[in-house]
Amino acid sequence: MSGVYSHPLYYDIAFGCDPTREADFYCEVFKRHAGSVRRVLELGCGTGRILIELAKRGFYCVGLDISPEMAKFCARKARRLGVPVVVLRADMTDFHISGFDAAYSAINTVSALLTDEKLELHYSCVSKALRAGGVYVIDAALNPSPGDREEWEEERDGITVRAEWEVVNLLPRGRVLDRLRLVVRERGKSFELLDESPSRRMSPADLSELPGRFGLEPVAWYLSFDPEDEVNSPPERGRVIAVLRRV
Ligand SMILES: C[S@@+](CC[C@H](N)C(=O)[O-])C[C@H]1O[C@@H](n2cnc3c(N)ncnc32)[C@H](O)[C@@H]1O
Repeated sequence: MSGVYSHPLYYDIAFGCDPTREADFYCEVFKRHAGSVRRVLELGCGTGRILIELAKRGFYCVGLDISPEMAKFCARKARRLGVPVVVLRADMTDFHISGFDAAYSAINTVSALLTDEKLELHYSCVSKALRAGGVYVIDAALNPSPGDREEWEEERDGITVRAEWEVVNLLPRGRVLDRLRLVVRERGKSFELLDESPSRRMSPADLSELPGRFGLEPVAWYLSFDPEDEVNSPPERGRVIAVLRRV
């Protein structure tokens, strides 16, 4: 057993089924809320499943990730596909780049920022990275609770990955214990990758009041990757995609 992010190939198979719907959504939301967008930044880009799709559509794309394995895999995959993507190995609470029209983070990546201090540092860096009027789009899970779980299976090139994700229990200080288990079947062998780690139990205020202190004002909320699924305010619980605009 070992960490999922140290084995990017299996992560990429498990999560990589079809990023076009997410990419379509980000394109539409950028256009709707930030106007003309050319330079795009992904925080916690992982294996680049969405970033590479956006680069194919002509955006200048930069991704950053703290995991050397994920960052390397993303850069190699983009090279192999002949898609121009810049990948930086960096912490999303401590980076210094600027001039972006739009930024985004996917699948609740922000929940890796366990303390208010980390989330504030993150918002401060993102705010400085964006031009005025640029947007930060955050795909987050609000107030996840024990019992929340999903299971699915994907196959690529003869490798099958069965994924099980669940919230195991609530932890003190606004955290939950998440478990992600990948069961890999490859060339007649089967093995398991397991990540069991605390994550931040994101609240609506984490996506509105906190970023507001760094000049990132909420301008729209969506409940899914359907741009028609826009709501006036965030739900108390469940998936939400927040659009914050840099004032
Ligand atoms: C849930 S995965 C999402 C990956 C990718 N965005 C996707 O949609 O498939 C979260 C990613 O965030 C990265 N990550 C976690 N904490 C980070 C941090 N402090 N700075 C940068 N990247 C981080 C992990 O290494 C991992 O690749």
